[in-house]
Amino acid sequence: MIDAYEESAGMGERINQLKPGQADISHGTILYLEDVTLSFDGFKALNGLNLTLDDGELRCIIGPNGAGKSTMMDVITGRRKPQQGRVFFGQNIDLLKLPEHEIANGMVGRKFQRPTVFEALGVAENIELTLTGSRSPWRMLKVRSTTTERDRIDEVLTTIGLIGLRDRPAGVLSHGQKQWLEIGMLLAQNPRILLVDEPVAGMTGEEVVRTAELLVSLAGTRTVVVVEHDMAFVRKIANKVTVLHQGSVLAEGSLTSVQNNPKVIEVYLGETPCSN
Ligand SMILES: Nc1ncnc2c1ncn2[C@@H]1O[C@H](COP(=O)(O)OP(=O)(O)O)[C@@H](O)[C@H]1O
Ligand SMILES: [Mg+2]
Repeated sequence: MIDAYEESAGMGERINQLKPGQADISHGTILYLEDVTLSFDGFKALNGLNLTLDDGELRCIIGPNGAGKSTMMDVITGRRKPQQGRVFFGQNIDLLKLPEHEIANGMVGRKFQRPTVFEALGVAENIELTLTGSRSPWRMLKVRSTTTERDRIDEVLTTIGLIGLRDRPAGVLSHGQKQWLEIGMLLAQNPRILLVDEPVAGMTGEEVVRTAELLVSLAGTRTVVVVEHDMAFVRKIANKVTVLHQGSVLAEGSLTSVQNNPKVIEVYLGETPCSN
């Protein structure tokens, strides 16, 4: 009785300490999807999807083409709203009530497959552009960054391994380096959750290894979700793996456990997910 009382008193105190818009992650959950269904003209791209992400984890999402991976990311980022279900950031923030731009601001950063860096601008300037948000590229060239901004830019460039190229035009970067720069542009906005869609497609072997190291290093201080087809890459970084199929979770667990799951083997027949 006393324990229960103390526990509930503690919870009240904690919730009171949250600032407006701040996520309550005291239970360790950063993202919670429950029974999410999203239909396109009656076809359920997501069908009663449940997913829980722990704060700071590195999660791989795999699944055959059409499984609903991109649609799931559209829902998490607020790009599409499901017809049914609940999507919470922490315990308290209902993402279904927030517009996409608010979710992008400090909550969920999404890296699409194709890099979209500004090739004519410098490497550091690309990061600066995202830091300053509302500034147009033209104004940015005329207004000097503050020391704090420069420190932040250099910190991000160090993290992504491009500090030595800070003043080169982004156009000279290799495909892999452009992908890292784009990850840096997201990091500059300090997302709690980083979603990356097929990060290693088109990379060289060396770039793949460095991308694995980068994503592993980013987890912990933030939550990283990687959607990937390349199973050799998943094996390099995998911790917990979720397999989507027909809009819901087919299996979840270690890479070995899902690869040995008969249901997973069946949906992947002909796609050789276990090769490499
Ligand atoms: N805008 C859309 N209109 C109609 N159907 C769509 C649309 N987007 C996706 N779908 C369908 O929803 C299913 C899931 O798609 P998607 O989330 O892109 O899968 P994945 O990313 O796993 O390959 C597919 O069958 C796809 O054809
Ligand atoms: Mg997709």
